[in-house]
Amino acid sequence: MTDKLKDMRRTHHLNELGSADVGKEVVLMGWVQRRRDHGGVIFVDLRDREGLTQVVFNPGFHPDIHEKAHTIRSEFVIGVRGKVERRPEGMANTGLTTGEIEVMVSELKILNTARTPPFLVEDDIDVNENIRLQYRHIDLRRPSLQRNIIKRHRASFAARKFLDANGFLEIETPVLTKSTPEGARDYLVPSRLNPGSFYALPQSPQLFKQLLMISGFDRYFQIVRCFRDEDLRADRQPEFTQIDMEMSFVGEEDIMRVAEGLIAEIFAVVADVDVAPPFERMTYADALARYGLDKPDLRFGLELVDISDIMEKTDFKVFSGAVKKGGIVKAINAKGCADFTRREIDEMTDLAGVYRAKGLAWIKVRQDAWQSPIIKFFSEEEKAAMAERLDMQPGDIVFFGADQEKIVNEALGHLRNFLGKKLGLIDDSTYKFLWVTDFPMFEYDETEKRFQAMHHPFTSPFEEDYGLLETDPTAVRSRAYDLVLNGSEIGGGSIRIHSKDLQIKILEALGMDAAEYENKFGFLISALESGAPPHGGIAFGLDRLMTILCGGASIREVIPFPKTQKGACLLTDAPSSASPEQLLELGIKVDLIE
Ligand code: AMO
Ligand code: AMP
Repeated sequence: MTDKLKDMRRTHHLNELGSADVGKEVVLMGWVQRRRDHGGVIFVDLRDREGLTQVVFNPGFHPDIHEKAHTIRSEFVIGVRGKVERRPEGMANTGLTTGEIEVMVSELKILNTARTPPFLVEDDIDVNENIRLQYRHIDLRRPSLQRNIIKRHRASFAARKFLDANGFLEIETPVLTKSTPEGARDYLVPSRLNPGSFYALPQSPQLFKQLLMISGFDRYFQIVRCFRDEDLRADRQPEFTQIDMEMSFVGEEDIMRVAEGLIAEIFAVVADVDVAPPFERMTYADALARYGLDKPDLRFGLELVDISDIMEKTDFKVFSGAVKKGGIVKAINAKGCADFTRREIDEMTDLAGVYRAKGLAWIKVRQDAWQSPIIKFFSEEEKAAMAERLDMQPGDIVFFGADQEKIVNEALGHLRNFLGKKLGLIDDSTYKFLWVTDFPMFEYDETEKRFQAMHHPFTSPFEEDYGLLETDPTAVRSRAYDLVLNGSEIGGGSIRIHSKDLQIKILEALGMDAAEYENKFGFLISALESGAPPHGGIAFGLDRLMTILCGGASIREVIPFPKTQKGACLLTDAPSSASPEQLLELGIKVDLIE
C-alpha cells in the first residue's frame, strides 16, 4: 500500500467537488479541521485555502486505514485517495460548497503530524490578538484571513493589469536610500562600509519616481513597501504598501481620471461593486468647515455649524472669549438624542478632550424648555438665532466647541464620526468616495515653531498664489489632492514642482538654507535643472484600501505579517538586540538606553 502512495498527486482543491463528481476517484490533501468518531465511522473535515471536504473512514471498508485514522489530530496534514459519494439522504450540508458529497477513503497518507494548535483554526474565536500574531502561520489558516489575503492578491493583480493596459511601466526603486520626507521619522540602516553613515528606508518612492519622469519614463507605477517611524494608530503600520504612480505632461484632471479608473477596476474585480466615477470633490476649506476633518465620512450628515457670529458678544465668556481671541464656536445637532445620559455626555466630553478641547458644552431641547448648565448666559436673541441656525427641535441635543479653529474642528469632527457610529447612521454597504482638493501648502508646527509642507515639499503651489509665498505662506494653496473613502484617506498626490527656482523657494520657505537643501536635496535640484518635464502623481494606501474592501476590521487583518502597535513582529520577535560583534563591525555603541 505504501508504494502506491508514493505517486499520490492532489487532484482537486477542497471546494471543488460536487454531485457531478459522484463515482470519481480523487486524491485530496490538506489540513485536518476536525475528526469525528461516529460509532465506528470516522469523519474528517479536510481543509485547504479554498474550502472543506468531508472524507470518511469506514471500518468495514478498509479496517487497517480506519485504524490509522484514529491517530489523526487537528491540523495534521494528510493525503487521501477515495471515491466521491453522494451523502446519504438528509445528510447534505447546505452551508458547504462540497456539502452534497463525501469521499470514501481507500488510502491514507499522514504527510505530517502537528502539535495541538494554540487556538482553533476557525473564525470568530475569542483569542488574544498577541497570541494570534505569535502563531501567525496558524492564524493565517483561518478562513477570513485566507479570504483577505486572496482578495489582496486580486487587488494588486487587478491594479497591475489596469496600469499596464494604460501604458504604465512597473519600475523598482531603492530601499536603502536617503531620507524622503513625508512627515514621519526615518528608519535608519547603518552602513558597515561607511562607518558612521546611515541609509534611510524610504517613507515613499517620491523622489525616485520624480527622477524617473525626468529620465523620460512617462508613466510609472510600483506596488511598493514604504517605511515610516511614527506613532502607530489603528490605520497605520510602520511598513505599509502603496500603489504608487507618476505621470508626465499631465494636470490634476488626467491623474484623477486614471486614479478613478484604477479604483473602479479594483472594486469591480475584488468586490463586484460599481463605484461609478467621477467621484465627488470638495475643497479642503469646505471639508473642514462642514465636517471638521480633511477626510470626511460622507455616509451620513450631522454637519458642523459655525455660530461664531452669534456668540461674539454673549455673556458666556468661554464662547465670546474664544471668538475674541480669533477662534470660533461651532455646534453639532444630534437630532433626537436629548435623552443622552450624563455618562454618555461625559464619554463624549472625554473624546473631545483627546483632541485638546477644554470642554464640551451642550443644550438639550425639551418640549417646553431648553436644559443646559450654560443656558442662563444667553440672551433671547442669541437663543433664537441659535435655534434657527441649528434647527433645534424638541428631542435634540446640541454640542458646542469653542476654541482655536483647529481644535474645534478636530474635536467636533471626531465627535461627529463617533455620533455617526453610535446612532447607527452609517450604512456599511456603501462606498462614499471624495476628492479633497486645494490643500494649504504649509501648516505651522507649534512645537517646532516653523512651517512644514502639508503634503510634501515637492508639491507645486497654485500659480496664482506664488506672490503669497513671502507675504502670507499660510494662504498659499497647493495642487495636492487626497482620495477619501468612507472617512479614510486612501490616497494622496499632487502636481509637482518641476522648476529648480520654485523648488528652492519652497525649501527656503520651510526654513532651509542653501547648505541644508544642497545636502539633503542637491541631487533633486540638479535633476530639475537637466530637463524636467511637468509631472504629477498619486499613491494609494493598499492596506487601508484592503481594510475597507475586507469589511473594515483592522489593518492587521489584511497584512500577512503585521506589526503590533509597538512596532513588534511577535512571530519573529523583531526588533531584537544586535550582538557586540555586529555593533563593533558597524562602529556603533549603544549606551543611551536605560
Ligand atoms: P502619503 O504620505 O499621503 O503620500 O501616502 C499615500 C497613502 O499611503 C497610505 N499611508 C499609510 N498606510 C498605512 N500605514 C501608514 N503608516 C501610512 N502612511 C500613509 C495612506 C496615504 O493616503 N509620496 C506621496 C504620494 C504622492 O505624492 O504621489 C505619499 O507618500 O492611504
Ligand atoms: P465651565 O464654565 O467651565 O463650568 O463650563 C460650562 C460648560 O461649558 C461645560 O459643559 C463645559 O464642558 C463647557 N466648556 C468649557 N470649555 C469649553 C470649550 N472650550 N468649548 C466648548 N465647551 C466648553
